[in-house]
Amino acid sequence: MKVLDGKGLAEIIKQEIAEKVAEIKARNGNVPHLAAVLVGDDPASQSYIRNKVRSCDQCGFESTLIKKDDSITEEELLEIVHDLNTTEDIDGFIVQLPLPAHIDEQRITLAIDPEKDVDGFHPVNFGKMAQGLPSFLPATPMGILEMLKRYEIETSGAHCVVVGRSNIVGTPISILLSRKASPGNCTVTLTHSRTRDLAKEIARADIVIAAIGIPNFISGDMVKPGATVIDVGINRVEDASRKRGYRLVGDVDFESVSKVAGYLTPVPGGVGPMTVTSLMLNTLEASAK
Ligand code: GUN
Repeated sequence: MKVLDGKGLAEIIKQEIAEKVAEIKARNGNVPHLAAVLVGDDPASQSYIRNKVRSCDQCGFESTLIKKDDSITEEELLEIVHDLNTTEDIDGFIVQLPLPAHIDEQRITLAIDPEKDVDGFHPVNFGKMAQGLPSFLPATPMGILEMLKRYEIETSGAHCVVVGRSNIVGTPISILLSRKASPGNCTVTLTHSRTRDLAKEIARADIVIAAIGIPNFISGDMVKPGATVIDVGINRVEDASRKRGYRLVGDVDFESVSKVAGYLTPVPGGVGPMTVTSLMLNTLEASAK
C-alpha cells in the first residue's frame, strides 16, 4: 500500500505557485490577493482559515482576513460581500462555512460575484463545471483530481464509488470523475445515507471517495484489494491522551484499510492540504483575469 502524501504534494505545488507569482510580480507588479471572511469562533473554521492565510504567505499572495462576531446580521454580512465584489484590489474571496444558523448560507453564496468565487460554490460556477466549461472548481474535488493526476492513478474505465452527496464534495467529485477528461472517464456510483447495501457498493470500487463525516466509517473488510481510497473526512474525536483533548480521524479506518488498499490518503496530511492548494490555484487564476 502506498500512502498518498497530500501534505508533501501541496508543498511542491505551493512552491510552483510562488515561482509563478514572483515571475508575474517582476513582469507587471501584480500580486494575487485573497480575502477570507470568518464569522464566529468555530475552532475547526479558525484552524482552516489559519492554514489558508499561511498558504497565501507561502505562495507570495496578499491576504486579508475579515473576522466578525457571530452576532453579525445577514444584511451586514451581505454588505461585506458586496464590498468585496467591488473592491478591485481583491482578486477572489471566500466566506468560510458553516455560518451561524440565523444566516442563510445560500443567500450569501448567491451574492458572491462568480468571477471572484474562488471556492467555486456559486451555482454559476457549479453549472459551468457540470457542463465542462472553464470555471472555478470547488477546492476539495479539485485537490482530489490533482492528487490522482500527480500520482498517475488510472481513472479511465475505473469504477468509482463516492460516499456522501454534499454540494461541496460528493456531488461535484461524482460529476468531475465521470467527465470525458483526464482524470475522469470513471463509471461513478454516488452513494448516501439511503443507499441500500452500501458495503456491497463499496466492495465493487476501484476508487473510493469517502466524504460522509462519520469517523472511521469505512473499514478494511469493505474495500476491494488494491483499491485507491481517498479520505475526505476530518473528524475531531475526543482523546484525553492528547494535549488539546482531541485527535483528527478520517471517514476511513486507516489501520484496517491500509492492509487492503493499493493507495490511501492519511488524515491529517492527505486531502486537506490539497484543498488549500486548490484555493491558491483558483486565486492565481482569478488574478490573471
Ligand atoms: N468549510 C469547509 N470547507 C470549506 C471550503 O472549502 N470553503 C469554505 N468557504 N468553507 C468551508
